[in-house]
Amino acid sequence: MQFRDSKLETSGNIIGFFEREFYVFSNFSSFQVEWCGRTWQTSEHAYQASHFFETDPDLVEQIHKAKSAHDAYKIAKANKDKVPKNWEDIKIPIMEDIIRNKVEQNPYVLHKLLQTENKLIIEDSPYDDFWGWGENRTGRNELGKIWMKIREELYQQKTKDNYLSQSTNKERKILITGGAGFIGTNFIYYMLKKYPNYKIVNLDKLTYAGNLKNLESLQDNPNYTFIKGDICNEEDVKKAMKDCDWVVHFAAESHVDRSIMDPDTFIRTNILGTNVLLRIAKELGIKRFHHISTDEVFGELGADGKFHELMAYNPRSPYSSSKAASDHLVCAYFHTFGLPITISNCSNNYGPYQFPEKLIPLFATNLIEDKKIPLYGDGLNIRDWIHVDDHSSAVDLILHEGKIGETYCVGGDSEKTNLEITHLILNYFNKGEEMIERVPDRRGHDRRYAIDFSKIKNELGWEPKINFEDGIKETLKWYKENINWWKEIKSGEYLEYYEKQYINRK
Ligand code: NAD
Ligand code: TYD
Repeated sequence: MQFRDSKLETSGNIIGFFEREFYVFSNFSSFQVEWCGRTWQTSEHAYQASHFFETDPDLVEQIHKAKSAHDAYKIAKANKDKVPKNWEDIKIPIMEDIIRNKVEQNPYVLHKLLQTENKLIIEDSPYDDFWGWGENRTGRNELGKIWMKIREELYQQKTKDNYLSQSTNKERKILITGGAGFIGTNFIYYMLKKYPNYKIVNLDKLTYAGNLKNLESLQDNPNYTFIKGDICNEEDVKKAMKDCDWVVHFAAESHVDRSIMDPDTFIRTNILGTNVLLRIAKELGIKRFHHISTDEVFGELGADGKFHELMAYNPRSPYSSSKAASDHLVCAYFHTFGLPITISNCSNNYGPYQFPEKLIPLFATNLIEDKKIPLYGDGLNIRDWIHVDDHSSAVDLILHEGKIGETYCVGGDSEKTNLEITHLILNYFNKGEEMIERVPDRRGHDRRYAIDFSKIKNELGWEPKINFEDGIKETLKWYKENINWWKEIKSGEYLEYYEKQYINRK
């Protein structure tokens, strides 16, 4: 959703606090209902309220005695008719009162304010050169000044340290489903390292894609528990979800090629399994259910444009269709039953512990083994690659600061054709083009994926941090240094799959 003034501008030291941001604040503030009858404008309301101070000494006294800015505003609003002309000296203090009130009442607002560090805060309304910067950027930015003043005070009181230690010291128990897979494993490491007081329960069926070796180093960690179980099994889910505050749901059948061979497993785990989790989460009163989804639910793109949250779903493979169905179920539990959910739709991940059936680990491990690398079709399909740690940081932020009921698109800002990826991997391992084996294209192969992540960037301040060129080198190095990890996987069932998928393909 685009708001009138919601363009984001970051240049040098300057960051804007935009109307979108203020809207978020208003939603979280206790005076939301009174103030949000229409598009919310802090400046406008303060402006109005301040008029009343001038009018009538009795009224001024009443307003001054009010317990909060909210009460003051209510009194002012009830006396709407007595509007004077002179308001200049009054409106800034009342605005300060309003903002202070918001900050005191709402940890989210406090956190946002502290997050801006030393940057200048601007009320970027081009229509207002008193509260904002005005059309020609010459306005007074009074609103921005107030936010900055309050922030400064908070820093002086060391509120930041207190607040941050409070939020990381809080105890929480989180159920991670599918934590023995690629992204789940990386997310568990990320969370245990960042939040020493969080307890993680990992429920995983250990399908071909789940590998307990990934998490071996956590065996003696008192904050980590593993439960082998199936998300489709109600008893397993109840046992794992008991006493949890949050659920982060990664478990899925995740490989498009396998979904083309055997759609049924995808329907069972991705749709029915998600429904079991949702039902139990509702029964147990889980405080947050975060669903991990994919950009593939949106279908494919042509040469232009990017996926975003308001786009219609148009899945084209059994995998993406099953994920789309699960997303819809998650939304249904929010709208119908009020389950507090959030969803993220992320682009293609890369990093350590990825099962060597996906493009990057498959090509890397084949080349280390001196085997050819099977490139589908013309090799010009495009994916938007994101390092798995950037995905984890986005999920972390959504869990702590995201808005209930919302979806966030997460992407790496790194579009590459498969051929570009192929050359990069060949170069890293000093191999030539002769190692490429052109194989017939994947059926229904989506041409291009790309993510517009401006919502999570503007609302929560997230963006990917790991540059693709660095991330891919570090990842390829990991596969070179962890041959035992993938050698074991590339045996048994894997060989059968490889035979079916690649050898019998021709
Ligand atoms: P993965 O295939 O590596 O891991 C999936 C894990 O889920 C495995 O540990 C497996 O044992 C477990 N699992 C499967 N069925 C289960 C069941 N019935 N009960 C319990 N556990 C079960 O997958 P991944 O790449 O780590 O993806 C994780 C999630 O992220 C999936 O939901 C996927 O759709 C989503 N996603 C993946 C990517 C990507 O690039 N890999 C991108 C966006 C979204
Ligand atoms: P993949 O890693 O399977 O992810 P997804 O299909 O979910 O995007 O594939 C990434 C791209 O690489 C996709 O366009 C298909 C292509 N690809 C190959 O060319 N050869 C392969 O052997 C594999 C597994 C994928």
